[in-house]
Amino acid sequence: MKSYDIALLPGDGIGPEVTAEAVKAVEAAGARHGFKVRWIEYPFGAAHYNRTGETFPDSALGEMGLCDAMLLGAVGDPSVKPGILERGILLKLRFHFDQYVNLRPARSYAGVPCPVPLPDGVRIDSVVVRENTEDFYMGIGAAAQKDGLDLPFEAERGLYKLTGRLSVNFTPDCAAALQIGALTRPGIERVTRYAFELAKKRGEKEVVLASKANAVPFLYGFLDEETRRAAKEYPDIALKIQNVDALCYHLARNPAAYGVILCPNLFGDIVSDLLSGLTGGLGLGAGGNIGDRLSMFEPVHGSAPDIAGTGKANPLAAILCAAMMLDRIGESAGARSIEAAVASCLEEDGAGGEKPVELGGRASCRSVGDSVARRIE
Ligand code: NAD
Ligand code: IPM
Ligand code: MN
Repeated sequence: MKSYDIALLPGDGIGPEVTAEAVKAVEAAGARHGFKVRWIEYPFGAAHYNRTGETFPDSALGEMGLCDAMLLGAVGDPSVKPGILERGILLKLRFHFDQYVNLRPARSYAGVPCPVPLPDGVRIDSVVVRENTEDFYMGIGAAAQKDGLDLPFEAERGLYKLTGRLSVNFTPDCAAALQIGALTRPGIERVTRYAFELAKKRGEKEVVLASKANAVPFLYGFLDEETRRAAKEYPDIALKIQNVDALCYHLARNPAAYGVILCPNLFGDIVSDLLSGLTGGLGLGAGGNIGDRLSMFEPVHGSAPDIAGTGKANPLAAILCAAMMLDRIGESAGARSIEAAVASCLEEDGAGGEKPVELGGRASCRSVGDSVARRIE
């Protein structure tokens, strides 16, 4: 029987609750389709950090790199200053393993209404291809109370190492912060190619690029030019460049009009939450951080501290992540079983009895997971 090693990082808040249900779904798919999973669980997150002061040891990276894939719940907790866990764990993993695409599909499900009325038979079936290593996520910047800013910086990515020095003065002097974004030709090229290959596979004629060259011309003007250049490899698929503000407007009014949406890192973060909301809720938004080495699957949503421990978390995003992960490791039949079980779970009405609380039902996180696992068997 085939066996896979999967790194499991449940994380904070609802992370452990939703990943437990994703694990159940994978186990059920394995039982049905004849594969086994060895879960290698990691404790990193707020509790570990508050207890030990450690965010994420480098030694774990080597071990994780030997795994077939990774499943992550969410990190971040009100007890820890924003950014410490998010950058120290999540972004560290994305950058270390050079997971240059954050792939975030958004689909309508029968039984889950879109908050925007869609004409009969029209469904959302779009996918955000989010560049996952550059833009304003470089981590270069600083804040200072006075005397301006002067800092040497360096950042390491799969494609390059970037070093430099930032030196800025404000006259008159004032407390200030500065953070810079970076985009590179090879960074834009590889994610553009991924987006166009995906559009080709989906039989689509267009890729929409979320940009903002009108206000941020150096960074996003370069993005437009370089994306256009890379898109020339695909003469049969049009590149449509749309300002991200207008894109959000059109998405809110007519979300079904979009297929592949290519985004720089920060816009992709925002647009994918919007799209999850449009399909019914963040608890449906699955995602994968894809690269040539270890890929890592995690929901679009975060640790949702406002509902952690209440049983109200919708585990379907995490469960759909598990399906994306099975596709990645070559267990596509298992992936299809999980997706079909999720769809059937959502379609079943029963006065909302089996639906997650997020979608207007009464089912707890665990009972939604049980219902999906039962349908897989
Ligand atoms: P969030 O996604 O955690 O929550 C936003 C809203 O959506 C909340 O009202 C929450 O209750 C709801 N929600 C989210 N997931 C849900 C689910 N599965 N079922 C039902 N409702 C759900 O975003 P936030 O509040 O901005 O962030 C909370 C923490 O999570 C922060 O520390 C943030 O940095 C972190 N975060 C982590 C990740 C990640 O690890 N991948 C992603 C986003 C945010
Ligand atoms: C996400 C999250 C992360 C991001 C945060 C927690 C760093 O919002 O995965 O969407 O911005 O990428
Ligand atoms: Mn996000």
